[in-house]
Amino acid sequence: MFNAETFKAHLVEWFNKHQRQMPWRETKDPYAIWVSEVMLQQTQVDTVRSYYERFLNRFPNVETLAKAREEEVLKYWEGLGYYSRARNFHTAAQEVVTRHGGIVPKNPDQFKALKGVGPYTQAAVLSIAFDTPLPTVDGNVFRVWSRLNNDSRDIQHQRTRKAYESELSPYVQQQAGTFNQAMMELGALICTPKAPLCLFCPVQSHCEAFHEGTVMDLPVKSKKVKKEIVDLDVFIIRDDLNRLLVEQRQERLLNGMWQFPLFEKREDNSHVKKVLGASFQVESEEVFQLKHQFTHKTWQLHVHYASLSQDDLDNLPKHYQRITFEEKEQLTFPVSMTRIFDFVKKALS
Ligand code: ADE
Repeated sequence: MFNAETFKAHLVEWFNKHQRQMPWRETKDPYAIWVSEVMLQQTQVDTVRSYYERFLNRFPNVETLAKAREEEVLKYWEGLGYYSRARNFHTAAQEVVTRHGGIVPKNPDQFKALKGVGPYTQAAVLSIAFDTPLPTVDGNVFRVWSRLNNDSRDIQHQRTRKAYESELSPYVQQQAGTFNQAMMELGALICTPKAPLCLFCPVQSHCEAFHEGTVMDLPVKSKKVKKEIVDLDVFIIRDDLNRLLVEQRQERLLNGMWQFPLFEKREDNSHVKKVLGASFQVESEEVFQLKHQFTHKTWQLHVHYASLSQDDLDNLPKHYQRITFEEKEQLTFPVSMTRIFDFVKKALS
């Protein structure tokens, strides 16, 4: 039967013994914890480790981050994806400096008012840094809590999140940071989506889904709408000096990041000529394809070699540049573009 006190005691005891070592668990600095929590949204712990150390070495506190140029912040984020996280976090650091004298606000409303801070980040940072009694409800917690209660409410609904927050609230009145991290750690190590280790679970005796045999049916998540697939042509264009033509994105999506010239895939290339110049010519069949996943869509990238006259190259707008492989390191590219670079480098060597 479910007993709230023994449940929490068993969970916390397990966490104290089995939690993974993570650099952000060695600190109480709210800024450092904030860095880790922003990175951990959408990204695995093992990937985050090295980014976290590098980021904190370069931007050890709110002031250094606030002062940095956005391009440099993105460079330290390169490869983590979901770059608006980095942009928002950078803006939030500037807000902390201007509104709060550089001190991360402890007040939940003030913290939540910062750019990019939603209910999860608010609860995670404040509970871990200050034991503020707010429950973190992320994907792990949805899974763990739905199974513990054999709860089949749809986790896509905002009202389910609200209900979970209020049901979990009694558990975070004390030791909020430990409890929240223990729930997430249980979800990551034991109560996993596809192969939960129920036999090793410290709270198995509290788990209604285990007793009912419904663990694999939970959580219930209504079918997501199918992601839109967008077909795009990518052109590898070199000048006489073997430098590669790249452009800085002007769109909201991946704003400010660099890419090979990228165009909607069409039957003819008049739309490309309009932008790059009349001398534009595709030189090869598609050399390879790759996917770039976003939250709401997938880019299907079709890569080709192409050419452009020296005149047209010289007349491109300022957000185009020609770069060597070495110069690539100065600019920030999404992972899909880096893979294309690696392909070209190999092909040319
Ligand atoms: N996932 C995101 N933040 C986490 C944390 N602090 N502990 C465990 N898992 C997490």
